[in-house]
Amino acid sequence: MCELDRFTGCSIIGAAVLIAIGLSWAEMEDRKSWTTLDWLQRLNYSHELHNVTSGDGYQLQLQRLPRLGARPVLLVHGLMGSSLGWLCLGPTKSLAFQLHQRNYDVWLANLRGSSPYGRQHVELTDVMADFWRYSFHEHGAYDLPAIIDHIVALTQREAAEQLNETRAHQVLLIGHSQAFNAFLVLCALQPRFNQHIQLMQGLAPLARLHRQVRFDAAHVRAIMKFVKKRDKAKKFEIFPPGELRKLCNKKRELCEYYTKNLAGSAQSNKKLLEIFSYEHLLQGGSARELRHLQQIWKSGDFISYDYGPIENMQIYHSVEAISYNLSEISVPIILYFGETDAIATPEGVHGIYARMLNSVRGVRRIASSKFNHFDFLVSSDVKTLVNDKLIEAMEKFFAGKLPYIIE
Ligand SMILES: *[C@@H]1O[C@H](CO)[C@@H](O)[C@H](O)[C@H]1NC(C)=O
Ligand SMILES: *[C@@H]1O[C@H](CO)[C@@H](O)[C@H](O)[C@H]1NC(C)=O
Ligand SMILES: *[C@@H]1O[C@H](CO)[C@@H](O)[C@H](O)[C@H]1NC(C)=O
Ligand SMILES: *[C@@H]1O[C@H](CO)[C@@H](O)[C@H](O)[C@H]1NC(C)=O
Repeated sequence: MCELDRFTGCSIIGAAVLIAIGLSWAEMEDRKSWTTLDWLQRLNYSHELHNVTSGDGYQLQLQRLPRLGARPVLLVHGLMGSSLGWLCLGPTKSLAFQLHQRNYDVWLANLRGSSPYGRQHVELTDVMADFWRYSFHEHGAYDLPAIIDHIVALTQREAAEQLNETRAHQVLLIGHSQAFNAFLVLCALQPRFNQHIQLMQGLAPLARLHRQVRFDAAHVRAIMKFVKKRDKAKKFEIFPPGELRKLCNKKRELCEYYTKNLAGSAQSNKKLLEIFSYEHLLQGGSARELRHLQQIWKSGDFISYDYGPIENMQIYHSVEAISYNLSEISVPIILYFGETDAIATPEGVHGIYARMLNSVRGVRRIASSKFNHFDFLVSSDVKTLVNDKLIEAMEKFFAGKLPYIIE
């Protein structure tokens, strides 16, 4: 019975919250188009907005649940996500609120492409092809540096002005899915961030996909064919907000296949489809994002984007794409995996620990026999299974008592 509820986490718990704050059913139906700010304003939750511009001109909105002088934690969404994923279950369950209640200064990132807070650029608009030329590489090479520099500089200044203290210039990082890839790119390209990140907790990280993803090859081919078709039609965004809802209404079976494979157990349940109907919770990204993931899946190595031999030669001075140099990454890292995750499989996540990085301080299994990729955001058990564990790990880490556990 509980299984059935897991996938509707956002709606069921969301509904309870909404009733508690006095909303009508009609307004509850509207929540499908709710954004992060709709939630914060409806809950009257104290927050700040920060505009950050990346080195290549993307204007990203950061949301903050401020707590002056407390340790800053930055939450970074993954593939197909946005900051909404960290608060859509409301104040009693979602990580952003929980961290704030536990005395952290909480920051929510919106990386380029995510709707609606990652869609501005100083020159481009989001209907131009150039806007969509990015993958996790640009998230790590441009977006994260701008965001982390902003947080570090501001919290340092606040501490000096208002609290009369100098504090360490560090943030705690928590990232879902592809955010881990962006973190690796960040630290590989700009080693100074090793000093700025106190601890990285990666949920369902996607850095090692070789032979691991649990889709059959035909489905991967079908996805890539779809990407090609969109490219040809000059639609560079894959699944704009609302598109998944339309697709699910039209092609229910296909939608059920992906829902079952990405966000839950093998249970067939119409309500599984709910999460796809939230416009800003699950949306698409760029074609290049999917292609870059496909390349690391195929190559078995954590490589930069493969442009093809001619462009590679101009960009990398090498016919082939090059491997990111991960040898200098020293940020302490804890990785979390779900037993039934179809993309960040247990084997794939163990591969990151065993073969890629030296600074992994733990690999943790979510204590449930069925836990999939998007359950990290929408499972109705996310508080006890994930959030409490993340906070406990941070507190042990500060006390110098983080146990070394590989599960
Ligand atoms: C919202 O919060 C502010 C400041 O905390 C408070 O003054 C105000 O009364 C609250 N409004 C509602 C509708 O709860
Ligand atoms: C941030 O950007 C948004 C949209 O681009 C704009 O409406 C808002 O005024 C900006 N806020 C600040 C503080 O610059
Ligand atoms: C700040 O701290 C310094 C040294 O601890 C002290 O001398 C100074 O008076 C403090 N200033 C304020 C405004 O509290
Ligand atoms: C990676 O970087 C380290 C330190 O800068 C260097 O010693 C090493 O040779 C590099 N490895 C590769 C494969 O480039």
